[in-house]
Amino acid sequence: MDKFIINGGSKINGKIAISGAKNASLAMMPACLLAPGCYTLHNTPNLRDVWTMSRLLGSMGVHCELNDHDLFVDSSKIDSFEAPYEHVKKMRASFYVLGPLLARYGRARVSLPGGCAWGPRPVDFHLKAMEKLGAEINLEGGYVVASADRLQGGKIHFDVPSVGATVNAMMAATLARGSSRISNAALEPEVTAQARMLVKMGAQIDGVGTNCLEIEGVDSLSPVNEHTIPDRIEAGTFLIGAALSQGQIVLENVNPYHLATVIAKLEDAGCEIDVRGETISLKIDEPPRPTDITTAAYPGFPTDLQAQWTALMLGADGVSSVRDTIYLDRFKHVPELTRLGADIEVNDNNAIIRGGKKLSGATVMSTDLRASASLILAALLAEGRSEILRIYHLDRGYEHIESKLQALGVDVRRVKTEEF
Ligand code: EPZ
Repeated sequence: MDKFIINGGSKINGKIAISGAKNASLAMMPACLLAPGCYTLHNTPNLRDVWTMSRLLGSMGVHCELNDHDLFVDSSKIDSFEAPYEHVKKMRASFYVLGPLLARYGRARVSLPGGCAWGPRPVDFHLKAMEKLGAEINLEGGYVVASADRLQGGKIHFDVPSVGATVNAMMAATLARGSSRISNAALEPEVTAQARMLVKMGAQIDGVGTNCLEIEGVDSLSPVNEHTIPDRIEAGTFLIGAALSQGQIVLENVNPYHLATVIAKLEDAGCEIDVRGETISLKIDEPPRPTDITTAAYPGFPTDLQAQWTALMLGADGVSSVRDTIYLDRFKHVPELTRLGADIEVNDNNAIIRGGKKLSGATVMSTDLRASASLILAALLAEGRSEILRIYHLDRGYEHIESKLQALGVDVRRVKTEEF
């Protein structure tokens, strides 16, 4: 088990390059199951979740190898159509193999993902989508057992936009016989990036980038090389960190269009932001203004940044609110922030933050990926030394985060520990 030791009070100051998007990689890697052959996914981030997906695909006979940031995938030989619980329990995105296995092989046995740190994470949208494409779905011993002679085109509508269900349904529909429509599809950039990869593979998809995808099934697809888009959540985390520490930062290798809402909110909070091409600069030399946010599906404020925003508002002079409309209870970071002296009250999925209180370093525990990012940011604000346990959560989604923070002037170090 690793932990971080952070001495608060330093300003984030400097320039860093943003890594490839975890959630794009996790959608592009299972797409390699759709066509046999060799793929190179450039700008793949070196993250725990990428290793987990590589191991899962490896258990099916797919060879994955990450060299620097080029991920080589060889899906020429598949000898298993199963995603075992040992992989799926570690990472919900393992469920994305369902669509491609059904589309290419007509069979799949995929463990249900179960819940996560912040409550239930159902997959009913995924299963209904597969049934709309003609698959037979049974639940046996915690596994989804799915089969189809050949998937048939169908009309899929999501009552709530779902990133994962859109990704799974899109992959399945590309090889189905006939036409499919996916309405109220998720608009997240990672979904659009995967659609673009599928089109490069030979899929016929109209409406890419919109919430209505028209897909004409084809008989086969071909392997491709693809570049992974920048990680907008990593970028947003560092922008928020710079704002919270009243410092300044330049982010390179980003797509500012993916962060329009976050940039607008940071400007509302008093940050000066300059966007040039693939670079975003931010500076602020006073406490942020209290600024309320409510999360929403893209292009709204991302739920994956609400914990980080909560940390930012601890430094604001006044009261603000953070409401999450995507998940039932994604506030596991709040009791840990309270240990640092934060004054936050959560009711009905809405956190009321009374900012401006003095924060003092303490030992806190990561509960999930984005909560741990929030704890790091709050420790920057706190006076003195903080220890953040269970850093493995962070390693799922932030590449070399301590070296990036150190390069920005943050007093942080990673320590091996027996503590759990
Ligand atoms: C993706 O998860 C991301 N993960 C999450 O990022 C992100 O928080 C989420 O989208 C929302 O943006 C990856 O891309 C790997 P959803 P996903 O399906 O696809 C409900 C991170 O930190 N729902 O868009 O699982 C669901 O409960 C991770 O990088 C159903 O009810 O999210 C939620 O309320 C955490 N039934 C809403 O839809 C379903 O079958 C949106 O979830 C599927 C989803």
